[in-house]
Amino acid sequence: MSVVGVLTAGGDCPGLNAVIRGVVARADERDSEVVGIRNGWEGLMHGTTVSLDRDAVRGILTRGGTILGTSRMDPYVHGDGYKSCEKTIKANGIDSLVVIGGDGTLRSALQLSQEGLSIVGVPKTIDNDISGTDITFGFDTAVGIATEAIDRLATTAEAHNRVIVVEVMGRTKGWIATYAGIAGGADAIIIPEHEYSIDEIVATLRRRHRKGIKYSIVVVAEGVAPPPGYEPIEQKKDAFGFDRLGGVAYPIAAAIEDGTGFETRVSVLGHVQRGGTPSAYDRVLATRLGVGAADLAVDGASGVMVAVRSEQIVPVPLSEAVDSIRGVPDSLFATAASFFG
Ligand code: F6P
Repeated sequence: MSVVGVLTAGGDCPGLNAVIRGVVARADERDSEVVGIRNGWEGLMHGTTVSLDRDAVRGILTRGGTILGTSRMDPYVHGDGYKSCEKTIKANGIDSLVVIGGDGTLRSALQLSQEGLSIVGVPKTIDNDISGTDITFGFDTAVGIATEAIDRLATTAEAHNRVIVVEVMGRTKGWIATYAGIAGGADAIIIPEHEYSIDEIVATLRRRHRKGIKYSIVVVAEGVAPPPGYEPIEQKKDAFGFDRLGGVAYPIAAAIEDGTGFETRVSVLGHVQRGGTPSAYDRVLATRLGVGAADLAVDGASGVMVAVRSEQIVPVPLSEAVDSIRGVPDSLFATAASFFG
């Protein structure tokens, strides 16, 4: 019988609990025990754990957040790498650790595996920007929420002849903006991967209004730069030194209003995209990834993560996940741009 540890680290994401449930169910089938680590790497460094059996994960499939808690603490930033985790690993007899996290978490997981700890990663982020996998769980849910918001904002924009600038999450990439923008029929989409000109956007919106369509929806990814001459919103840092993004829609809306003369309002969607129940697609994907990760962990694999490649769940080296961040391809953005204005 082997013991599998599991932790969730970094920002939360719809589907985390479905992954945990998948790990526990498959480990149980394979006669292995699961130890849950509380609050990400913090729990591994401080020895806060909980035993997870099938009863402990009953009813969590549909729940947002993570029953284990999460944090942005990192064993290489706030500790001494493997040495900071060794006590908890040994005390709980953990043979293999399933780490559910984004690129920063997976980078630390790779380092720990290089120090000799058996680790299987599960890529997680609503931003959909992790390399090595075709898609991450949580993204579909976030796109669904953003699309519903755009649908709702479009009707009020139309009723009042307004432009509404909708800001979505995504950090340095524009996956959520591009998908939700296409799904919601956006009149312009601004993402970090694609240079934008506020003059072109102004011209597009004016053309649209001249045709008699007197409202517009502009979708903005939070990671874009403000237009030249417009001040960025002051960016604070969180407790772990990460930039807190959000608010670039305000200078963009000001530039659009100045350029068009049309009343322009802002809606920053923020954490509503990350909270709550996962979509059916994400429940299935997260379950498959959890089951796949448990199989790899029990089989003794290490230094790999479970990934989606052509609809299949496959192991890929963790190094592939941390090499680079995956951006929106030009061809996808060009498809979105065909519908601007
Ligand atoms: O990476 C996921 C994400 O939701 C980003 O889209 C966003 O910028 C960030 O996390 C927000 O993190 P926090 O909740 O720590 O502010």
